[in-house]
Amino acid sequence: MQILDGKIVSQAVKDAIKIKTDALKSAGKKTPHLAAILIGSNGASETYVASKVKNCKEVGFKSSLIRLPETVDEATLVTAIEQLNADGDVDGILVQLPLPKQISEAKIISLIHPDKDVDGFHPMSIGKMVQGLPTFIPATPYGILLMLEHYKIDTKGKHAVVIGRSNIVGRPISILLSRNTYPGNCTVTVCHSHTHNLREICLQADIIVAALGIPGFLKADMVKENTVVIDVGITRVKDITKKSGFAIKGDVDFVNVAPKCSYITPVPGGVGLMTIAALLMNTYNACEQK
Ligand code: GUN
Repeated sequence: MQILDGKIVSQAVKDAIKIKTDALKSAGKKTPHLAAILIGSNGASETYVASKVKNCKEVGFKSSLIRLPETVDEATLVTAIEQLNADGDVDGILVQLPLPKQISEAKIISLIHPDKDVDGFHPMSIGKMVQGLPTFIPATPYGILLMLEHYKIDTKGKHAVVIGRSNIVGRPISILLSRNTYPGNCTVTVCHSHTHNLREICLQADIIVAALGIPGFLKADMVKENTVVIDVGITRVKDITKKSGFAIKGDVDFVNVAPKCSYITPVPGGVGLMTIAALLMNTYNACEQK
């Protein structure tokens, strides 16, 4: 069993971005600039956005953080996005999800200019991704592809089982793994809360992507020997032994599943770090394409 180490791979990706960013700056070109909008004070969202901002700094990007209250009305958020769309210095716009219930997620995502859609959630970005055209790929699926690529994991003809069908992870990774390219050419099964015989389906998988958000869901008796397991879960669970008061748990029962795997991602230290590296990559590309 080999650990797919998000720390090593994300650092390699970030090192490459830093070199390219330094080169842009030395050539007198503009510095990549990511603008993030954070609404309210959800603990997990705060942590993710703080990490995104910190990582921008590490690779030499500019970043802006716009904070709005939980009670913000849709019109105010719309204005903030329109200003960022019009701002020539801003290359990438990210609205941290989930949004408060008074705001339509679909409306907000569609408002971000597709050229600045570094989350890759805009219908135009998704449509291009489905057609295999160049576009921004959502950061978590993109991070998973970078991880598979780094470890040269064979995907051709493999049966990939994706558990979860969210717009952020499950749906896009299922499409990407079925593309006629590398990493891809998988036969993909998408499972969800209404799937019958999930265990039997998982037992047929060569690759499992667990992206349903239930800690420890994937058990050892659902996984055959030598499976590649990608754990996308990052749920906060109460843990009084930790200074923060919580621990981060993945969707995989790691201790019991890992011995059966050929490769597995840990949580923390796996896909989460790759998500940020992929977001930086999208932001760099948004700037370079200008
Ligand atoms: N919330 C959870 N994951 C993501 C992500 O990748 N992008 C944004 N904007 N919000 C998220």
